[in-house]
Amino acid sequence: MQKFIITGGSRLSGELTLQGSKNSALPIMAAAFLTGGVCTLDNCPRITDVYSASRILSGLGCKCTFSGGEFRVDASGAGGSEISAALMKEMRSSIMFMGAMIGRMGRCSVSVPGGCELGPRPIDMHLSALRKMGAVITDEGGRITCKAPGGKLTGAKINLPFPSVGATENIILSAATAEGETYINNAAREPEICDLCGFLRRCGADIRGDGESTVVIKGVKRLNGCDYTIMPDRIAGATYLSMTASAGGEMILKNACTEAMEPFLSVLEQTGCRIITGNDRIYLRCGARLKGIHDRIRTMPHPGFPTDAQAVLMAALVTAEGTSVFEENIFDCRYRHTDALRKMGADIEVLGKVAVVRGVKSLSGAVVTATDLRGGAAMAVAGLKAAGETVITDISHIDRGYENFEGAVECLGGKIKRV
Ligand code: UD1
Repeated sequence: MQKFIITGGSRLSGELTLQGSKNSALPIMAAAFLTGGVCTLDNCPRITDVYSASRILSGLGCKCTFSGGEFRVDASGAGGSEISAALMKEMRSSIMFMGAMIGRMGRCSVSVPGGCELGPRPIDMHLSALRKMGAVITDEGGRITCKAPGGKLTGAKINLPFPSVGATENIILSAATAEGETYINNAAREPEICDLCGFLRRCGADIRGDGESTVVIKGVKRLNGCDYTIMPDRIAGATYLSMTASAGGEMILKNACTEAMEPFLSVLEQTGCRIITGNDRIYLRCGARLKGIHDRIRTMPHPGFPTDAQAVLMAALVTAEGTSVFEENIFDCRYRHTDALRKMGADIEVLGKVAVVRGVKSLSGAVVTATDLRGGAAMAVAGLKAAGETVITDISHIDRGYENFEGAVECLGGKIKRV
């Protein structure tokens, strides 16, 4: 198993072009299957979750090729409707293929991966929405089979009890070619949902209201393939900005989605960093010790503070002056990185969904284990600040979502080795 060895304690400086978004690429790859056409996805990140999605597409009969940052899917001859338990386990967001398969094939068979690094991730909202659209669903020992009577789902009015990103995406995918109109009330408003809808519209779908609480999808008879550019990854952006803020220094993030990153940037700015945005670029300079954040940092659905950026910001704030308080409202087990940060010298107290971070003057390198994707990235943020060497093990978690992580850190002048 590979490790990262980071030598911390130096300031960072450099320019970095932001990778394409993982959370956009994955549902858009599922949508490519739904179109039944040829799709070319530019700015597609080279990360292991995308490779897993590519294996799923191939398993369904698509022809997939990756060249540079361009991923091409030819879904024209594809006719699969089952995903093996092994592939479902490889990547939990494989559940997104459910909507795409039922939309195209009128049926699907998937298995539900059990609990994961962030706590249990049920799919009850996905299933109840599909049932409302007429799907007949059976669950035999964790194998879920969905069938649309007559091969087509029917539009419905769906009220989500919580704006789940995955459920919203699955409903959009199922509704794009269903009979009639589907309304999603209390839909998730994440920028990646707008990206998925932008892609589907280019393929001929009729979708309105994405980015707002009510999304209306009018089913169309058929979709076509298209060329599309995946949006930049706002969480990878938050990670690299947190790194430079924590270590001190200055950087320019290029190809940045500044508007989508606003909920993160407005909090980061309160640490005393200078941030200038414009023309898809973010400039950040941090010359002094960061200041703790006065108001509680509450993770919330977009446009609230993103749960995916909680760990990396916390890693930066552990050495800030003063106390910062986080409240994690999206996932149950999202403080697993705090043990590693404590091992490096951080003072963090976790009480249920609240984490109290009392800033310490310095950190020291340690051997730590990446517990999940963003938690692992947080350990790198802390490692670059810490004195001495930090060894991060289980970095396959980091490779799930960060394209050439060590290359990006090196672009900023950070000392990192993959061994
Ligand atoms: C997506 C993102 C993930 C991000 C999360 C929240 C992708 C590939 N992943 O995950 O990076 O952290 O949004 O912004 O885009 N829930 C239920 N029942 C359901 C569905 C969800 O109880 O049927 C709960 C979940 O357990 C969780 C909360 O709702 O507590 C939010 O989950 P959701 O928005 O669905 O997250 P994902 O789509 O899994």
